[in-house]
Amino acid sequence: MSVATELDLFTFLDKNPDASLESIIECLDIPEQSTRLLLSGCCASKLICRDHETMGYRNTKVASVALVKGRKNMIPLVQFTHQVKEKSGFHLLESLRKVDNDGTNSVEKSKDESIYSNPKVDKQLADAVGAYSSLTWHSANLSEFSGIKHLLDVGGGRGITAVYLCSKFPDLKITVLELPRVCEMARHYIAENNLAARIKYIEIDLEDTWPKDFDGVLMSHFVTIFPKKKAETLYKKAYETLIPSGKLFVWTVLFNEYETGGMEAVKLALYHLNINGHGAFCSGSEHQKFMLNAGFEKVNIFEGKFDHSMIVAFK
Ligand SMILES: C[S@@+](CC[C@H](N)C(=O)[O-])C[C@H]1O[C@@H](n2cnc3c(N)ncnc32)[C@H](O)[C@@H]1O
Repeated sequence: MSVATELDLFTFLDKNPDASLESIIECLDIPEQSTRLLLSGCCASKLICRDHETMGYRNTKVASVALVKGRKNMIPLVQFTHQVKEKSGFHLLESLRKVDNDGTNSVEKSKDESIYSNPKVDKQLADAVGAYSSLTWHSANLSEFSGIKHLLDVGGGRGITAVYLCSKFPDLKITVLELPRVCEMARHYIAENNLAARIKYIEIDLEDTWPKDFDGVLMSHFVTIFPKKKAETLYKKAYETLIPSGKLFVWTVLFNEYETGGMEAVKLALYHLNINGHGAFCSGSEHQKFMLNAGFEKVNIFEGKFDHSMIVAFK
């Protein structure tokens, strides 16, 4: 799938439905045998199909919705999964052997080993997480957001979530805390969506002091990138940032209470372990415990799709 997106097969078929084998060979510019192999693979994976009478190829619905350039698509996520995530799996046994009981890898990865030291991967990562967020947020329960006036989005990435929430709540203002290099990418996206007046970025490392007096704090796909022991510290910081009766929203994958799933949480946990050497992957009740320890009065959990949940903590 990733190679076919790199060769832009799906955009070609979108423009040329029922395309012949010869026209595809010409477009992809790889040998005939390789083209036929790639097309067979895409047919077997149900990304494209072949009409048995005309022998032409066309996209199936999934490819047409997610893999065509020039409109909203999941291509950055597909390519990141192939080029970075899958490769990281080669070190799984080594990573598992080094994990401490608090979920932290006992041997820190050197700077050169880390994907975060590679500027190409940095952009790729921001684009991939953005695509992933736009996919998952559609199943998020937003009922507790209504009435929120000023939201602090901690580690808000390229702004995909902030733009989505602004489209749902016309009076909402959002301040995003992000690392400087991500703010740079985000500002273009916010300007393209004409939301510069409602979404502000502050360049910050989360260890710095956070601004105060928000009625909502959001952490989307955020606590999972840190060691588990950091979650409670982050929730305490959110508590101090909120006005009385403010709410903390955590959008994240959850393990079930028996630690027998969900699949998305397990996959992400293993990937983070390989890449970062840690990851705060918890069940709902573990998050609840950290939030109550941080001072919150009550915690509600709303299940979404793809093993995601919206956890809402009330101050
Ligand atoms: C997995 S992404 C989630 C992005 C976004 N919240 C979303 O759901 O699409 C985690 C984000 O945390 C940011 N981040 C990581 N370490 C940080 C730090 N020390 N201070 C501020 N942001 C940080 C990264 O730049 C990245 O954009």
